[in-house]
Amino acid sequence: MNSYHHDYQASLDQPEQFWLAQARRLDWFQFPTRGLALDEKGFHRWFPDGQLNTCHLALDVHVANGRADQPALIYDSPVTGRKASFTYAQLLDAVARFAGGLASLGLQKGDRVVIYMPMVPESAIAMLACARLGLIHSVVFGGFAAHELAIRIDDAQPKALLTASGGIEITKKIEYGPIVAKALAEAHHHPDHVVMLARPEIPFASQPASWLDWNDLANSEPAACVPVLATDPLYILYTSGTTGKPKGIIRDHGGHAVALRYSMEVIYDTQPGDVFWAASDVGWVVGHSYIVYAPLLTGCTTLLFEGKPVKTPDPGTFWRIIEEYKVNVLFTAPTAIRAIKKEDAGGQHLSRRDLSSLRYLFLAGERCDVATYEWASDLLKVPVVDHWWQTESGWPMIANLAGYGLVPTKPGSVSFPVPGFDVRILAPDGSECEANEEGAVVIRLPLPPSCLPTLWGNDDRFRAGYLERFPGYYLAGDGGFKDDDGYFYLTGRIDDVINVAGHRLSTAEMEEVLAAHPAVAECAVIGIADTLKGQVPVGLVILKEGHTLSPHELEVELVRNVRDNVGAVASFRRALVVERLPKTRSGKILRKIMRAIADKQPFAMPSTIDDPSILDEIRETFLREGVGE
Ligand code: COA
Ligand code: AMP
Repeated sequence: MNSYHHDYQASLDQPEQFWLAQARRLDWFQFPTRGLALDEKGFHRWFPDGQLNTCHLALDVHVANGRADQPALIYDSPVTGRKASFTYAQLLDAVARFAGGLASLGLQKGDRVVIYMPMVPESAIAMLACARLGLIHSVVFGGFAAHELAIRIDDAQPKALLTASGGIEITKKIEYGPIVAKALAEAHHHPDHVVMLARPEIPFASQPASWLDWNDLANSEPAACVPVLATDPLYILYTSGTTGKPKGIIRDHGGHAVALRYSMEVIYDTQPGDVFWAASDVGWVVGHSYIVYAPLLTGCTTLLFEGKPVKTPDPGTFWRIIEEYKVNVLFTAPTAIRAIKKEDAGGQHLSRRDLSSLRYLFLAGERCDVATYEWASDLLKVPVVDHWWQTESGWPMIANLAGYGLVPTKPGSVSFPVPGFDVRILAPDGSECEANEEGAVVIRLPLPPSCLPTLWGNDDRFRAGYLERFPGYYLAGDGGFKDDDGYFYLTGRIDDVINVAGHRLSTAEMEEVLAAHPAVAECAVIGIADTLKGQVPVGLVILKEGHTLSPHELEVELVRNVRDNVGAVASFRRALVVERLPKTRSGKILRKIMRAIADKQPFAMPSTIDDPSILDEIRETFLREGVGE
């Protein structure tokens, strides 16, 4: 293997040759003659004339090459008490049959399929079945409410919607049926088919007669893989932006497969046959890339876990799973580790388990505080690697690349750019920042394979949101700096996106809900630091004259409205009445100033949002500082 420096330089100097060499490791139906091209819109596209199929690479290839009896997917669900294991041959059979069922509904290459499902094997089966037929899946996280589902249905215009009767949050049963029915009633677009997986734990008595049963499709005649162009979309994954409307990130088949296969080796130091566990949800990009696609493209065993790091049943669940399935690599969000640490600071549960199989813990999704990093390193006694990426990239952009040999870690740093990513830090005037000077994190174009080519149905928003601020660069939306040794540090979002328990959310979406309340004259939602979830949203509202609700009554209503419209996952629990908000002369609310205030001591990371003194402090600070210009 070449050194990191060799490969990094080669990936920037000769990107086409570099990525074509990586592409050769996959089994294409037609190998691309070109690495990179500009399409008619002027966007970069990887491997434009190559033909392949992601499901073929993830399943068929391994069955044909001697992995038929190796576990491909292990399901462990402490919330239902169920466990299951699928070999590569069994998973291929299940996927090909379900794909046959989808084909029997008349679905064809390029049709969209929305998947609103909990963490059950059928979710991964559905994603792979779509990939098999060249259908474009769009998975919507189960913690989003009906309105969010409706927005995505209208944007993706799916021919089919796949769902289950519900999900289980520790002990609470979340019925999906009524949520889906409400979303369909709100959406302007109507999918031709709704397919529901009936879970025995969550019966759905009022299922409309037109909805199909999952099992009617699951036993169909197996369907073969449909060859697709490398540039054809594999999926659309909606993510939060700076407006209330989520952005449909497009992922293509070819670049995605090439980048993910490469990432498993060089970033995660993982080989075929290893057991890889991404403790996330298929509704997020981590779940797409590292629960479903990357481990299977690599011939690993992937783990699909339905539960929480704590309370299902205790803070020892992660360690039990590592021991039971001999997990080699664990990937999760720092929040999950903080949750375990909170309940088992001394690591009692961990000390009872044999974790000798574990080689690395990878963390991403939000800033990792040094205390959490050190706690995990001390107890696990394996390298803990913080790395940075986004839904837009689909794979890590800055990391300590274990496959090339780890460099010494620096607490708080995400280390060095991954080959293919020419990461720079720019000042507002577009000049490059000096070492240790904070600026906008950008990536010089072209972006490497797997990164979004554009947004679904919205090229203008893609250009305006990512490409126009600094011509020639992709604007990541994060702030950061580089130290004297070239290590990168992230300092937080520079826009109105917040990260709550590793979940990316838009404050603008929540503001829309608050603003719709008849008693609210003006409002702003900001993320404030929280010891468990990293950030939590807080609403600041100015009341209309003549309203009759008390601040407490109003807060109760606003909290309920955000829960009903955005979803429980927003963790929106507080709305404070304030007299003023900082504004420009033209009356625009200065969110940037509010973010800066919110980041300031004393309420940066000292406690949780439930602490009344913290809330008083926020209110006081805003009253003090929210005096116009
Ligand atoms: N379906 C329905 N509801 C969901 C949901 C889902 N898939 N996921 C979360 N929710 C609900 C929760 O039940 C909770 O509801 P509540 O307000 O009624 O209690 C709410 O959304 C907030 O969820 P969460 O922020 O996850 O808080 P939590 O207290 O349930 O759990 C952690 C806290 C830290 C244990 C949990 O967030 C976690 O495991 N995080 C790991 C992060 C992660 O996987 N990130 C993905 C990117 S790597
Ligand atoms: P998502 O698109 O949901 O993966 O969220 C991406 C955002 O999460 C990034 O833009 C960052 O703001 C944040 N993020 C992801 N990984 C890290 C990390 N390792 N350190 C700091 N922030 C991170």
